Amino acid sequence: MKKTETVFICNECGHKSGKWLGKCPECGEWNSLVEERAQATRRGGGLRNGFQLREVTAVPFTEIEPQDDQRLASGVTEFDRVLGGGIVPGTLVLIGGDPGIGKSTLLLQVADKLSAAGTCVLYVSGEESERQIKLRGERLSVVAKNVFLLPETNLENIFREIERVKPGAIIVDSIQTVFSSAIESAPGSVSQVREVAHQFLLLAKNRGIPVFLIGHITKEGSIAGPKALEHIVDTVLYFEGERHHNHRIVRAVKNRYGAANEVGVFEMTGNGLMPVANPSQMFLQERPQNVAGSIVTACMEGTRPLLVEIQALVSSNKYGSGRRMTQGLDQNRVALLIAMLEKRAGLQLSGDDVFVNIAGGLEVDEPAADLGVVTAIASSFKSTTIDPHTAVFGEIGLTGEVRAAMQASVRAREAQALGFKKIVMPASNVPGLERLLGVRVVGVKSVDEALEELF
Ligand code: TYD
Ligand code: MG
Repeated sequence: MKKTETVFICNECGHKSGKWLGKCPECGEWNSLVEERAQATRRGGGLRNGFQLREVTAVPFTEIEPQDDQRLASGVTEFDRVLGGGIVPGTLVLIGGDPGIGKSTLLLQVADKLSAAGTCVLYVSGEESERQIKLRGERLSVVAKNVFLLPETNLENIFREIERVKPGAIIVDSIQTVFSSAIESAPGSVSQVREVAHQFLLLAKNRGIPVFLIGHITKEGSIAGPKALEHIVDTVLYFEGERHHNHRIVRAVKNRYGAANEVGVFEMTGNGLMPVANPSQMFLQERPQNVAGSIVTACMEGTRPLLVEIQALVSSNKYGSGRRMTQGLDQNRVALLIAMLEKRAGLQLSGDDVFVNIAGGLEVDEPAADLGVVTAIASSFKSTTIDPHTAVFGEIGLTGEVRAAMQASVRAREAQALGFKKIVMPASNVPGLERLLGVRVVGVKSVDEALEELF
């Protein structure tokens, strides 16, 4: 018998090492190497589980038929949107997120809608029994006739059932519970997760059916074996936001068939996740009127504009250097903007605590939010309110200049649609937008100019 070798694999990046190391030499992560048995070489090259890659020959580019019209609508509008306009047959989609955020709920709803449209769906669950899923389904008023539940974790058994049922779509809840008996490592380990994902990839491509893999995230916030999996799958969707809020945001972190960074917005209700048709309105719902430190900014999330409220609180700190805390924004970026405000606009913030957050638990990471951040801080610092019908956006450079933002007209029109009367934006973005109906568009070149205009 061949001696099995032990290797150490990094949980973060998949780096292999012959001996244990405290720090991964590849990604620099500490304590991420775990012991695994070396994988036996594949028998019969891709012939495992009876699935084989199609025999392919090179074809001229011009003869390849476009695939876009074949997208399958899941019937859950926001889910279709993050996928780039529906489900592409033969895709492998990974859906990650914190426990209890709604992954199983969303996919059961998708299964229900798909089956109502005539697709047979196999829901493989290694986490819950049929009874539990049935219970959740009753809450979601699932009526699906064509949804089959399979409480199984052995990959070979799952594939046998797939042969029998011949589903048109497959949901695996979750990939960490499924294991292949061809590999010795425990379920959830990097090599198991990678092998299982790979087998489902072959299945998806061979049969041309969509496969959805639900993935858990580690406490550090990444899907176990993330780098390895992200490369295998076509699309990575990620649940954002907190359990304490009612809304859930699903973001496409990677998408081979659509725009990355596209988001779908849902609201968690007693009857499951409901798509939110007008997210800007939802995020501005609880906005306080006429309070210092609050401003609305227009962000882009994928191809969609989103209006969000930025709040800032500046309070004096008697004990020397002030703290800078942020929620939903990059802390370093905000620190940089504060330094810029001190130097270029003469705001003495060095001894103050500055807190900045995005209302509603959203995360914003685009530079076009800079002008909003600066405005909110200045408003709180001066204890001066800004007219609630004003929205701002624009990137700010280190010298205090206001730089152009992408998709300015889309942002401006969203603000217009939600009844804003004045928009302060980069001067270079203004051409073409002067005549926005019912809105006064003000172009600014520097932070000084912007603050002058707003206060
Ligand atoms: P679930 O989909 O089980 O989370 P995950 O699979 O990501 O771990 O979601 C569970 C949470 O959602 C749970 O806290 C209850 C809540 N929920 C509702 O609020 N309404 C509903 O209709 C359902 C089914 C769940
Ligand atoms: Mg679940």
